[in-house]
Amino acid sequence: MRDQTGFVLLPGRLSPDEQADLLACVLAGARDAPFHVQTTPGGKPMSVETTGLGPLSWVSDRLGYRYEALHPLTGRPWPPMPPLLETLWAQLVDPAVPADAGLVNLYRPGARMGLHRDEDEADFTFPVLSVSLGDTALFRLGGLTRKAPTRSLRLASGDVCLLAGESRLAYHGVDRVIPGSSRLVPGGGRINITLRRAAPLPPLAMPVLSR
Ligand code: SIN
Ligand code: FE2
Repeated sequence: MRDQTGFVLLPGRLSPDEQADLLACVLAGARDAPFHVQTTPGGKPMSVETTGLGPLSWVSDRLGYRYEALHPLTGRPWPPMPPLLETLWAQLVDPAVPADAGLVNLYRPGARMGLHRDEDEADFTFPVLSVSLGDTALFRLGGLTRKAPTRSLRLASGDVCLLAGESRLAYHGVDRVIPGSSRLVPGGGRINITLRRAAPLPPLAMPVLSR
């Protein structure tokens, strides 16, 4: 389903087996690149725990918001992007230009995410692709300004959505996660993975004209 703003919701896009495989990849990655609590530039701890997958991931601390190639605590590269996510991006976004950033947020009971825009990427023509695992989230989707009307959607385990077109820069957040609505995530809670194209595209190679 694509709405007038370009937002796409694909309920149950991942089968239960795919959800279990992806969760196993994420948890294997998190053994090397642990989930940790990031702080806002103002110094407030976020309520989600975060890690990354792929060449880059989104980092927030007193220096601001940015993409980094290394985990801020271990100093090591992020684990590789799981093939299932590479395929999903190729099918839904672009088979020629891969996502270069995977942000993984873990919502334990009580965690939420305030209304914000994803605007730290170099090129907003690429959508943000979001995959939900585990407990159902009450996701809030607004418009291009903070004051624009918002609506509430449920994102359940296996649901995939795309902030595409005009909705690419829409305000969005997670009001709350419904505890016990899934048994997928050990210890309970929800994992959301967002795939992004964060770095600028390399300049197009100029054809060499033969004389
Ligand atoms: C985010 O906006 O980065 C997270 C969205 C979600 O958890 O569904
Ligand atoms: Fe976001």
